[in-house]
Amino acid sequence: MTAPIPLIAGNWKMNGLAAALGEARAVAAGLGSAAARVALCPPATLLERMSSALSGTAVLTGGQDCHAEASGAFTGDVSAEMLADAGAALVILGHSERRAGHGETDAIVAAKVRAALRGGLEPIICVGETLEERKAGWALAVVTGQVRGSLPAELAGKDFAVAYEPVWAIGSGLTPSLAEIEEMHTAIRAALLELFGDEGAARPILYGGSVKPANAAEILKVKDVGGALVGGASLKAADFLGIVGAL
Ligand code: PGA
Repeated sequence: MTAPIPLIAGNWKMNGLAAALGEARAVAAGLGSAAARVALCPPATLLERMSSALSGTAVLTGGQDCHAEASGAFTGDVSAEMLADAGAALVILGHSERRAGHGETDAIVAAKVRAALRGGLEPIICVGETLEERKAGWALAVVTGQVRGSLPAELAGKDFAVAYEPVWAIGSGLTPSLAEIEEMHTAIRAALLELFGDEGAARPILYGGSVKPANAAEILKVKDVGGALVGGASLKAADFLGIVGAL
């Protein structure tokens, strides 16, 4: 069975003006022979410039969201085709900040995943429980439910990654215990095998939520953790490279 190729992706969220492109260049320059695929997902306004700045390097670029349609009267939205046109290879979908702040349901995320595939992008599909759900003992059921609801059958035979990001760990400095991460990643792996058969073993399951150079090595060693989705610590090349180097 093919082991997943690890992926370390940086999610810049709504951060970064033109001056920040220097950080992206510094990531590419400092990469060396990384053991992982490495990607940066800047705001849409920087995507084309970052893709140009990184062209010919090993660093991929990605979007942070896309609309389900390819084009049309959707003011303010960006389609998968547009992200690809701006140089993106990947797109983050179903991030908890989109699920909570923009009412994205599993069905909406699944429609966006189909759009990403149509546009030739590799989706990174995010799932994760809230603190209330974890305290109530529902974390495994919530997250595996999100996996089943957000990953359409069309993903069969396609490259994609799942990112487990407990909502309470994002930007908080808190992380689950290594045992809790392993328990969740094992459950997500089982769901992927159930949905996609053997192929489900070859897709990386990233961990996200307060990953930093100081905790990356121990998290990335956990069974079935196939990389990381990094927010705050991806904004500075030195921190991000410290995480990539921990693999
Ligand atoms: P964080 O964000 O690394 O700043 O916690 C992770 C994410 O939201 O993807």
